[in-house]
Amino acid sequence: MDRKALEEGARQILLTNLRQGVADWNGQEYSFVCPSLTGYPFQWFWDSCFHAIALLHLNPDQAKAELRTLMSAALPNGFIPHIIFWEMEKQPDFLSRNIVGQTDPHYSSTMQPPIIAYAVERVYLATGDEEFRKAALPVLINYYRWLREARDPDNDGLIAVIQPEEAGTDCSPKYDEALGLTDLSNQGFIAALKKIYEAYEPLRGDDHKILAADLFHFEDVLVNSIYAFGMRSLARLLGDSPEAAEFNHEADHTRDALLEKCWDEEAGAFFDLSGVAEKPVKVVTISSLMPLILSDLPRDKVERLVGDWLSSPDHFWTPYPIPSVPASDPKFMPGNPRGFIWRGPSWINTNWFLSHALRDHGYSELADVIVAKSHECIEKYGFREYYHPYTAEGLGARDFGWSTLILDM
Ligand code: GLC
Repeated sequence: MDRKALEEGARQILLTNLRQGVADWNGQEYSFVCPSLTGYPFQWFWDSCFHAIALLHLNPDQAKAELRTLMSAALPNGFIPHIIFWEMEKQPDFLSRNIVGQTDPHYSSTMQPPIIAYAVERVYLATGDEEFRKAALPVLINYYRWLREARDPDNDGLIAVIQPEEAGTDCSPKYDEALGLTDLSNQGFIAALKKIYEAYEPLRGDDHKILAADLFHFEDVLVNSIYAFGMRSLARLLGDSPEAAEFNHEADHTRDALLEKCWDEEAGAFFDLSGVAEKPVKVVTISSLMPLILSDLPRDKVERLVGDWLSSPDHFWTPYPIPSVPASDPKFMPGNPRGFIWRGPSWINTNWFLSHALRDHGYSELADVIVAKSHECIEKYGFREYYHPYTAEGLGARDFGWSTLILDM
């Protein structure tokens, strides 16, 4: 598939999945791409950021609309939801099939990996639209301050998630122990999530109390890498200002905490911290590699992550890299996990993150292979939610929005 055919395929999906209208519940206009018409018919936070980046290659005005719609869902306290049900009437039974934390029927009360400032920065750099940048700044400042205030109660620079879906890597095996998961299936996962929400019920809407309850408290490496990465973008968008210094300072704080608290010298990888007591969760997954997206990650850490893990055929260097769990893990599930996701297959969004990161750290040959293999997966099986790391077989949702990130690789 040449560039033109790839663009055509991506355009088809982004157009078909485009949702536009005026919400009957708040009178606001919306215009966004849903991840997939069948499984995910609403607006998802990090998906939208990825869609905007892909749209830059096809229709920059729509990229702006996508992010404007997402930012229009910000609450006065700065929080931006993980799912926004602009058109609940389109799939009213979604909530009966999925567990969603809510304080309002129209959006979730949970977060997702905070990549939004980077997406805004990319749109601004591509379009030079000052008005867009100026309108975005207060929303972004409030949002990243909300993350710090609501999600970093011990002020160590690492924000915590209150349930796995907030990290975007829903059923990753790294959460099994904290969830007390014994039934290793999607049903088991949903039952565990349900239990957490039942316990959260009396604390609903109060993130500090929820974190203090210590039922599920994860300082997640993927989330915090993206948090630091996003704050650098926000600082650049802010130019020379006290707020820019504030967010650069906080990004340093987060990077230093990742190095001091999450790095494991013996394993040569980063581990999440579970609970208020911050117990390292010694399970290597795609998250363990994510600090590579930080351009100021010390060289010795970069070399260990790439040499020991990412480029090792025993671990992450499968024929169609990069699997969400290394092949060496006993829980690695390369085939169709029937909704039990993030336990083996390769995803285009993490390939997008890590191929750029590898290039940035001087590994352009590895990056080229990841891009070529991602392209091959899409060429053979279309824009799917994730791919088999040995055969390239497309799995999960079809016509999946963020796989169009290939245009940006
Ligand atoms: C799944 C993924 C999550 C994504 C969502 C919508 O829940 O784990 O990362 O945002 O689907 O695509």
